[in-house]
Amino acid sequence: MSWPPNDDLDAILDHAWQVLVRGVRDARSPAHTPTVATVGPDGTPQLRTVVLRGAARRAHQLRFHTDSRAKKVAALRVRPACALHVYDRARKLQLRLQGVATLHGLNTSTGDAAWTATRTQSRRCYQVVQAPGGPIDSPDAPRFEADDEGRAHFVAVTVDLHSLEWLYLQARGHRRALFTRDGEEWRGTWLVP
Ligand SMILES: Cc1cc2nc3c(=O)[nH]c(=O)nc-3n(C[C@H](O)[C@H](O)[C@H](O)COP(=O)(O)O)c2cc1C
Repeated sequence: MSWPPNDDLDAILDHAWQVLVRGVRDARSPAHTPTVATVGPDGTPQLRTVVLRGAARRAHQLRFHTDSRAKKVAALRVRPACALHVYDRARKLQLRLQGVATLHGLNTSTGDAAWTATRTQSRRCYQVVQAPGGPIDSPDAPRFEADDEGRAHFVAVTVDLHSLEWLYLQARGHRRALFTRDGEEWRGTWLVP
């Protein structure tokens, strides 16, 4: 779509997906590292950056990878609702996405496929013996298991999106649109910015 955007809601939704798909393959794109929000078991909000690993428009799905021992996994096991946020400064664009997460760990086809596509250097994160987020005596304390590839700790998280909010800030007048999913269909509406 041409930029800045026109008034075509369908084109805006198309463009939002293009931004997400590009985020997967372009490490310099803002959508490569979205912020993911979960709700902790005690009800408190939790935010963190992740690398966007998959954006499948037909499946309405995003994917990121994490460690099965991470706090976000514990949170998602209790409450699978999650939200993602992307801010593209150059385009003056904010995307806010909401969905429901599914965890794909050991012995799952999605987890296995994601693991197979993971580079050796990325696998190192999952080889740490101690659980991530636990206290250590020094920054050098994490130990890496030489004979453990890390697969046991690897989880692919897919997020089935059910809403996408698009906000474009421009001096001549801001624009805000909300897209919600009903089955396979996405419906868009303009919102007061
Ligand atoms: C640029 C960047 C990329 C990151 N990518 C990931 C990722 O893909 N998966 C992940 O679990 N953590 C990633 N992290 C670390 C998380 O932000 C977070 O610190 C960690 O996962 C622990 O979060 P938790 O305790 O809420 O589970 C990344 C951090 C940064 C700064």
